[in-house]
Amino acid sequence: MTRIVYVNGAYKRYAEAAIHAEDRGFQFADAVYEVVEVRGGHLVDATRHLARLARSLGELSIPTPMSGRALLNIVGEVIRRNRTRNGLVYIQVTRGAGPRNFSFPGPEIFPTLVVLARAQRSGWADELAERGIDVKTMPDNRWGRSDIKTVMLLPAVLAKDAAHSVGAHEAWFVDGSGAITEGASSNAWIVTEEGALVTRPLDFRILPGVTRATVNDVAAAEGLKIEERAFTLTEALSAREAFVTSATNTVMPVVRIDGRQIGDGRPGPIARRLRSRFHRLAEISMV
Ligand code: PDD
Repeated sequence: MTRIVYVNGAYKRYAEAAIHAEDRGFQFADAVYEVVEVRGGHLVDATRHLARLARSLGELSIPTPMSGRALLNIVGEVIRRNRTRNGLVYIQVTRGAGPRNFSFPGPEIFPTLVVLARAQRSGWADELAERGIDVKTMPDNRWGRSDIKTVMLLPAVLAKDAAHSVGAHEAWFVDGSGAITEGASSNAWIVTEEGALVTRPLDFRILPGVTRATVNDVAAAEGLKIEERAFTLTEALSAREAFVTSATNTVMPVVRIDGRQIGDGRPGPIARRLRSRFHRLAEISMV
């Protein structure tokens, strides 16, 4: 349960935490965010998440509201006030509030900062990972800068809903050349017949996932071969394994794509291994 939310300098009760009616995040999706896993009351991969937040702000010329250290202090306070052991922290920064105007506001307008924590029943993702998930593919109709973590998430919301309506858990976007870009809220991976891990290289079409980066480290430590290259739906359908990565799921095996079984239709050994090793290599910080 979320009890307390940080909004622009104050810790508010959940029901009373609000932003201005003319916030640019609300009117223009002029905002960026981060989702960080909380595990045993600690933050997972905080340095990489803060670095990506700084990059997202920089790409959009949104002023940085405060230093990373000051932000971590607030995140820690939000975790403590909510007594969050396992779950996530959500951080959102918008360009601020002011009379609706497409142009950037002047320096008198300050960014809006919201930090909230949400507990999740520990073990829910492990149970899902035991079964594996279904994904549904659809054309990638997002804007051309999916590498920036903006709150402009309507295509992802619609894609998830379309996936859910056929019993799938995640949507995989496919670009104009038939290659998988990424999931609606995750990065996409396959394992080839030879046991190599394949994931799309970083470009403007995908989010540079923090979990993707840490899984790269885990795979290297495990001596697994990694091929950063685009892969098509056809290749994915004949892959030995498939999985997705994200902060809330870490490594989640994919057992069906568009209703067609991957491998033997059960979570594969490599995905399971990466999942079980993940938190040994991820950065775990006290806040
Ligand atoms: N989503 N790709 C997209 C489009 C995402 O939205 C996400 C994360 C990822 C994985 O990134 P990371 O490993 O840093 O979580 C890839 C978060 C979890 C969300 O929106 O809830």
